[in-house]
Amino acid sequence: MSRYLIQGGRVIDPANNIDDTLDVLIENGKIEAVGKHLAADAEVIDASGMIVAPGLVDMHVHLRDPGRTDEETVETGLRAAAKGGFTSIACMPNTDPVTDSASVVEYIQRQAKDAGFGNVFPIGAITHGLAGERLSEMGELIQAGAVGFSDDGKCVMNSQLMRRALEYTRMWGKPVISHAEDELLARNGQINEGYWSTVLGLKGIPSAAEEVIIARDIILAELTGGKLHIAHLSTAGSLDLVKRAKEHGVNVTCEVTPHHLILTDENLQGYDTNFKVNPPLRTAADIEALRKGLKDGIIDAIASDHAPHARHEKEMEFDYAPFGMIGLETTLGLILTELVDGGVLSLGGAIAKMSAGPSRILGIPKGSLGIGGDADLIVIDTNAILEVSANKFESKSINSPYVGRTLKGVVKDVFTAGEPVIKDKVFVDSYGEKRFSRVVL
Ligand code: DOR
Ligand code: ZN
Repeated sequence: MSRYLIQGGRVIDPANNIDDTLDVLIENGKIEAVGKHLAADAEVIDASGMIVAPGLVDMHVHLRDPGRTDEETVETGLRAAAKGGFTSIACMPNTDPVTDSASVVEYIQRQAKDAGFGNVFPIGAITHGLAGERLSEMGELIQAGAVGFSDDGKCVMNSQLMRRALEYTRMWGKPVISHAEDELLARNGQINEGYWSTVLGLKGIPSAAEEVIIARDIILAELTGGKLHIAHLSTAGSLDLVKRAKEHGVNVTCEVTPHHLILTDENLQGYDTNFKVNPPLRTAADIEALRKGLKDGIIDAIASDHAPHARHEKEMEFDYAPFGMIGLETTLGLILTELVDGGVLSLGGAIAKMSAGPSRILGIPKGSLGIGGDADLIVIDTNAILEVSANKFESKSINSPYVGRTLKGVVKDVFTAGEPVIKDKVFVDSYGEKRFSRVVL
């Protein structure tokens, strides 16, 4: 095992209330020391003028492995994550087969270990096969390593099942992650219901489809004492519900995506299916409310909802294209460019929402530079410019609405478990003893 001294950077570690110019010493895969002018017989990484932060944590990622490895594999997903500064990701169970058994959880973990770029924390299905009919074997899933439960992509419409899921998972303190979408209110909807759905002639998904389920789940969390987490919260009304629930002491947390903080339904004017996402892009008023919710601390985490889709499937008539956009490689840049430079969040506040925040929700020992912890760490060059380009993605898919944009902030170095994955903006190819080259379709 090697030793690395990350020298002279501005260390921002919200979990430990640190924001100062410091050195970080990594040894044997762990954080050995954080302090001023550390001296050690170690390889030195110059971080002067840079930000040193805990490896980021993305709690909402779709890897298409097993099932659709043409769109993403655990390995390519981890590579995309590393490029975006994420050393830990939680992956949603809407795979094929569904992540509703120990064997699928173990398969994903094995793939992650073989790839070696970072940590993957599988999320198990709430219901068997995501069919919404009976609970999955939750105990077995937890034993195999599942960190939470969700039927993401689908809503658990059966309130009794949702109640049981919250009750049952309470024993282990694991979160139930709600994809809040009333199926009947949202049926056949393509974009947010409002002015633009009328103008564009596309069927709308009303805010109410999300809000009625959030209200229900909050009531069920209160009834059961279960741990509820709201995925990709997208409307002002949803935020208000979570705010009031928190004020009443309900055990509820929530996340927002960069796209719901930056894009609106007005972006659908060109019928570009890369903007088709679920929940749909909402209005400027919703964005304003969500940004305030972040500032006020009601929103606990920022997550990408990285959802890779094959090009030939996205290039369909709007109604037939699948929902989702990739996000692992653009989330940090978007947040730095739009929210930090935009004065909504401090740099420390933004990093907290992508490290300590999600780690706390999932109960994983990540998102911190605490002494003795795993040395997952990133060095960010906040002045470097990232040009978002379709042929530069590490992800196997390119369904991003941000292609052509320039973002501020590039991840210069990435360490996972004390070993470099990216050094000076270049992947360390020997990492994990695997080489990979991406084929652009
Ligand atoms: O846009 C989305 N895509 N929203 C979801 O809830 C699921 C995801 C996917 O799996 O593609
Ligand atoms: Zn979802």
